[in-house]
Amino acid sequence: MATYENLLLELQHGILKITINRADKLNALNIDTIKEIKNAIQQVYDDPEVKGAIFTGAGQKAFVAGADISEIAEINDVTARNFAERGQEVFAMIERCTKPVIAAVNGFALGGGCELAMACHIRVASDNARFGQPEVNLGLIPGYGGTQRLTQLVGKGKAMELMMTADMVSAEEAKALGLANHVVPQEELMPKCEEIMHKIMSKAPLAVGLVIDCVNAVYTKDENGYQTEANSFARCCTSEDFIEGTNAFLEKRKPAFKGN
Ligand code: COA
Repeated sequence: MATYENLLLELQHGILKITINRADKLNALNIDTIKEIKNAIQQVYDDPEVKGAIFTGAGQKAFVAGADISEIAEINDVTARNFAERGQEVFAMIERCTKPVIAAVNGFALGGGCELAMACHIRVASDNARFGQPEVNLGLIPGYGGTQRLTQLVGKGKAMELMMTADMVSAEEAKALGLANHVVPQEELMPKCEEIMHKIMSKAPLAVGLVIDCVNAVYTKDENGYQTEANSFARCCTSEDFIEGTNAFLEKRKPAFKGN
């Protein structure tokens, strides 16, 4: 069983809440925290009790204010590539998880924080949240997938502008850009995330996981997403949940999905 110094994990009603817990550093991601996020997301993959995960940040001010700049300052040409690839690997695990992962963005989501939020399947922002990729201020570029995922989410022109200017955007602007799915008052942030999660959890889990796979296929080079979709559709049709779902509809009752 993994132990955590920089994260708080709480499992309630099938939802694993993962809180980045370095509030005095605005939840900046040091290397140990990245390792712990990897362990936590592995738990989401492996633990049948976990049906979905919500990432958030400790305190009222920040989701995550980026990679830890005091560690970045020590990076050299030998360690830099490894630094980026390690973070990319962990964030790709989040993106590819076949259980739903929601980011509850409760404040600053900058640099690696914006990248973490973008790796999640859905982003809900509190009205005080601010998003940005300010790496050029430090003579850097995003290294945890930000250049790719921001472009996927907001389009090329706006992604170019945000990453070249280092401008931050408000929660409402992020919503207008397609970066945030919803904006809610801070006290409603976790209830809204839980509401979305419970709605997803009431659907057929296998089908939900295959939706995630198929959407990700759009952005996976050399993968034919239409083929992935047809294969996934066929896989659904051999599942018990498909029989349950269609029977429940015809019998005018709620389905009881089992995930197989
Ligand atoms: N890495 C390491 N420490 C960080 C950090 C980061 N990414 N972001 C904030 N902190 C630390 C600050 O150094 C400060 O620590 P201290 O109290 O020991 O001095 C503490 O968190 C509070 O931050 P502070 O800057 O005092 O808060 P603020 O309200 O004045 O400003 C921000 C908030 C988010 C605008 C500002 O902290 C900031 O610009 N952070 C860096 C964002 C960034 O460039 N991220 C990308 C990194 S690649």
